[in-house]
Amino acid sequence: MKTIPSTSYSIHFNETCYKELNAYLETSHFSKIFILVDTNTHTHCLPKFLSNIDIDMTLEIIEMEAGEIHKTLDTCTQIWHSLSDLDGDRKSLIINLGGGVVTDLGGFVASTFKRGIRFINVPTSLLSMVDASVGGKTGVDLGTIKNQIGVINFSDMVLVDVSFLETLPAEEMRSGLAEMLKHGLIKDSDYWNRLCDLKALNISDLEGLIHESIIIKNEVVKRDPNEQGERKQLNFGHTLGHAIESYCLDNDNLQTLLHGEAIAAGMIMEGYLSMKTCGLSEEELTQIKNTFKTIYGTVDLTKNDKSSIIELLKYDKKNSHGQIKYALLESIGICKVDVIVEDQLIDEAFSYYAS
Ligand code: GLY
Repeated sequence: MKTIPSTSYSIHFNETCYKELNAYLETSHFSKIFILVDTNTHTHCLPKFLSNIDIDMTLEIIEMEAGEIHKTLDTCTQIWHSLSDLDGDRKSLIINLGGGVVTDLGGFVASTFKRGIRFINVPTSLLSMVDASVGGKTGVDLGTIKNQIGVINFSDMVLVDVSFLETLPAEEMRSGLAEMLKHGLIKDSDYWNRLCDLKALNISDLEGLIHESIIIKNEVVKRDPNEQGERKQLNFGHTLGHAIESYCLDNDNLQTLLHGEAIAAGMIMEGYLSMKTCGLSEEELTQIKNTFKTIYGTVDLTKNDKSSIIELLKYDKKNSHGQIKYALLESIGICKVDVIVEDQLIDEAFSYYAS
């Protein structure tokens, strides 16, 4: 698969990843190279990654706990201490080997350690390949409120080796698929239709689709890296989806949702808002609802859950002047940003989702 050039860096695929990485490490003269892994990628991905690295330098491994609940400033503090104890300096490099939590958090740790050191993202989950590792968003959650702290800072390269997906659990594959479906919904109806036709999530069928998804996202980021306008489209389904995800993270009675599961619910609800405010047809809305419900089922939410989730909408990063602003669909493939919606419609969107 062809390398995709981005703003200041490139996204390489499969065997090209290691050729590019080894050449880069050879010529860059880093003082130290750290590899950030979590407990899962330490076991399942690090051995393969190391077997492809050809450099005469000690690589220091730093491990964090796996899972969204560890995407915190406390984890960053532990890693900053490790970097410091292991003599990290401004000429050090961090390679983030993991899913979205590792690439988001590792990018933030690198961007702030000694006012910023270089980093490379090696996404190992489908979600991180098609979304989190691309586009320079780094950061952590504040309590359970998603991605409240962070900076936009681009990695030196992104290396997508799809063979890492071989050990990824099925629910994590489905979670990543939600972001791919979102790319179709906001930008490309043909791509959406082809994803809807997928019979199974096997790597050989997905490979080309992953490449296409990254191209869709990358084009948006290149035009609007700092999210002043068009990039807000990438948040379709995320205003309600993030609130649902945060609420479930914070509630022991509810099952913790993976990011893709939460935004799938968010995309059905925001699909409804799109129909009510932006002209999305009922036929397309039904297709969206049926597609997501078939893959992700329905999260049971009570009236109390709904009120608490609506409360959390005030933390959405697209809000300004106290107003909640949505990215909504005019049709499949066309998205509009900064849409303000009446409160009554949010209630209706929850009922539509439950129906
Ligand atoms: N995940 C949305 C963005 O990168 O803008």
